[in-house]
Amino acid sequence: MEKPIGIFDSGIGGLTVAKAVSKILPNERFIYFGDTAHLPYGDKSKEAIQRYSKAITKFLLANNCKAIVIACNTASAVSYKYLRDKYQGTIPIINVIDPIIEEVVRFGDHKKVGLIATRTTVASGVYQEKMSRRNPLVEMAVLPTPLLAPMIEEGFSKDKISKSVIENYLSNPIFEGIDGLILGCTHYVLIKEEINEFFNGRIKLYDSTDIVALKMKQIFEKEEMLCDSKQGVNHFYVSDITEGFQDSTLRFYGDNLKLELLKL
Ligand code: DGL
Repeated sequence: MEKPIGIFDSGIGGLTVAKAVSKILPNERFIYFGDTAHLPYGDKSKEAIQRYSKAITKFLLANNCKAIVIACNTASAVSYKYLRDKYQGTIPIINVIDPIIEEVVRFGDHKKVGLIATRTTVASGVYQEKMSRRNPLVEMAVLPTPLLAPMIEEGFSKDKISKSVIENYLSNPIFEGIDGLILGCTHYVLIKEEINEFFNGRIKLYDSTDIVALKMKQIFEKEEMLCDSKQGVNHFYVSDITEGFQDSTLRFYGDNLKLELLKL
């Protein structure tokens, strides 16, 4: 199916997911929307995030997208149910939380798994609820880490500041004895190496890049929605552009790309 995939996030964090989609589904074309005017979603109310998610989805569908990927844990936590119910039976709506939970459950060996995420994701209780439904034997240790996404957006990683913030959060006693950690925000992929170093590689880390792209591949194969060859180019829209933004996108996506401004 030659139509594009719609991918959105509060900002550029979801570009880590888009990158994985390009790698695992190279024939697919996508339209990316980063809602930078409303960044960060992590400290917004559920109602506000639902309103933004609805408007973005409407825009992506008006542009002929064949599936929507909510490449943001916060929006997945509070908007997925609404979008899924509204578009049920028409197009696949893919969130970034279910594929991670499935992977943790599939691995099977965990006793205690940590979760770091935005305040809104943690407060939604979605990860905790889904995990206890799928495998009630896995204990979850959950910590909101609101400084991380803005820190990463501002370009702090692999330096003294990021090291100290990461250490401060991860040395929280609630994480004692964890054997896995979910990076419950698409931004955190950019500090995955530092997190891995903090735990000396002893902990299994989960993030929503390849896991989500592989889930999409599965869905598209099943629904016979895969593209045979790539037609056209990817488009990247943001709702606000600030100075230095192109640098941040380079960090998140790894390639130079052209951002188009679009106010919804
Ligand atoms: N990337 C978003 C997520 O996965 C969070 C960043 C934000 O607070 O906007 O939750």
